[in-house]
Amino acid sequence: MNLLRFDSEDAWVNGACALWTDRLRHNPRLKLCLPTGLTPTAIYGEMVRRVGAGLASFAEASIFALDEFGGLSAGSPGLTRNTLRRQLIDEIDLPLNAFHWLEVGTEDVDRTCERYDAAMADGLDLVLLGIGPNGHLGMNEPGTPADSRTRRVDLHESTIHGSARYFPELLPHQLPRWGITVGLEAILASKEVWLLATGSAKAPIVQRAFLGEVTPDIPASLLQRHGNCSVFVDAEAGALL
Ligand code: F6R
Repeated sequence: MNLLRFDSEDAWVNGACALWTDRLRHNPRLKLCLPTGLTPTAIYGEMVRRVGAGLASFAEASIFALDEFGGLSAGSPGLTRNTLRRQLIDEIDLPLNAFHWLEVGTEDVDRTCERYDAAMADGLDLVLLGIGPNGHLGMNEPGTPADSRTRRVDLHESTIHGSARYFPELLPHQLPRWGITVGLEAILASKEVWLLATGSAKAPIVQRAFLGEVTPDIPASLLQRHGNCSVFVDAEAGALL
């Protein structure tokens, strides 16, 4: 595991985007899997700026959404696919058919998941991840086995309440209680994985995930066994490392 520690959030954004630009230059057909949440927002903004300035291009890349919330209307702004489109996809030169997202509204969720795994079957090049306060990756909550596939999952109570930040228009009882997530198998099989964390609230879980025991009880700890995983932290998130 490479620990990349930055003094400020600005340095953290620029450090991650410089490396992302570099990966795209070396492999224009980069196959990416991306999260939403508050953590990557500034990174997506900087990548949009870089594409606009001609410094980076996604013209030959492909992007898979990491997860999706269930039970909401297709237009809900907090859905992963809408957030990713607004923050990144619609602002860069990625062809729209190279953006893959999880359709939660279908009758046959299992079939949707099988198709998604099949589309990723030749392997991801780079997965970006945030980390939940309980160590979840995507919507792979504590207890998820390392060989889990893309599937429907129930969200833990803390994840449900935490998602209120993405859905300010919803009352607590309207928050999504389930979702679909790419499984740990595809994440751990990616050629490269970046775990992104900022802010003091993430410091304890970052410490447990990367200095503690490797256990499915903290899904992020499984990244310790990945041969090419980088952990990007600002000073606050990395304070206990
Ligand atoms: C969302 C996702 C989640 C978040 C995690 C941290 O697509 O994958 O696992 O990365 O809950 O969320 P933030 O970044 O909002 O702290």
